[in-house]
Amino acid sequence: MDEQRIVDPAEHPEESTVDKSLRPKRLAEYIGQDKVINNLEIAISAAKGRNEPLDHLLFYGPPGLGKTTLSQIVANEMGVNIRITSGPAIERAGDLAAILTNLKKDDILFIDEVHRLQRAVEEVLYPAMEDSVLDIVVGKGPAARALRLKLPKFTVVGATTRLALLTSPLRDRFGSVYRLEFYPPEAMEQIVTRTAKILKTKIDPDASMELAHRSRGTPRIANRILKRVRDFAQVKAGDHVTLAVAREALDRLEIDQLGLDENDRRVLRAIVELFNGGPVGLSTLAAATAEEVDAVEDVYEPFLIQLGMLQRTPRGRIATRRAYDHLGVPYFDRPAPIPIDEIQTTLL
Ligand code: ADE
Repeated sequence: MDEQRIVDPAEHPEESTVDKSLRPKRLAEYIGQDKVINNLEIAISAAKGRNEPLDHLLFYGPPGLGKTTLSQIVANEMGVNIRITSGPAIERAGDLAAILTNLKKDDILFIDEVHRLQRAVEEVLYPAMEDSVLDIVVGKGPAARALRLKLPKFTVVGATTRLALLTSPLRDRFGSVYRLEFYPPEAMEQIVTRTAKILKTKIDPDASMELAHRSRGTPRIANRILKRVRDFAQVKAGDHVTLAVAREALDRLEIDQLGLDENDRRVLRAIVELFNGGPVGLSTLAAATAEEVDAVEDVYEPFLIQLGMLQRTPRGRIATRRAYDHLGVPYFDRPAPIPIDEIQTTLL
């Protein structure tokens, strides 16, 4: 178990030091997510005014929108230490006990992918969150004894891409739950401009806007793309990102006008070309695109849904007319699906 690691598969390890310095460190530097930021400001200010640790809080939303960054900002604003771990990294109850007994008063324990905690680990977390106690059983069989250790008061900050997968007792223990949304283009443009300044990259405002529009409303993607565009400008365009340079670099990266990359289009194309527009079940779609079910559900689908290209229905995923238009595939007025009760009547 490695509880200090930030589990973040989308992050390129070789770039993690740069990425760290790109992350805003204070609330005042944070761009976008205004509702969340305003609520956090109040919660932090109130907790500090009472000289108390912050209530446990949960961030949820698609990857790359700032859950980890916000957790670190909360720690900075509160002036406390943060211990970073993740649901899958805590394999046994004993692993969590080791982490909890090392916490100091007011520390923040950040648990990424908190929906992936084992049930036995969750059972240890509940009383720790609620009453600052650690209930452990020492020994086995008739000699087993229950021990209760007092813990310092601390704050759990949970993060998840899948709120629905949290057990309700765990969800109920978070005093506030914040949903992160895709960033609108204006916020993305400010983020690109800010990152370019930190990276000392000369970029024209219309080029920043182009990147903003083609980054799927996701700062992590914008920052990653900006670095690739910067490489291109350095080698081919005298180190200056103009609109034309940005467009050429993005086209070479196969990122289209809406910010979809080859993987997004592969998912859409599978539904349209292999499954006649759907409905197709999630696991079938994942198998057809050689992707993990989780990746399809957490990474590709949310933005396609936001664009109105994909719908999740009880019978499976459906590509909408917009998806056909975007892929340049003619949209046939396919017969409306037969309602399920009618199928049953016909079969009887
Ligand atoms: N870098 C990544 N996300 C950011 C945000 N929301 N604000 C400022 N800089 C960022």
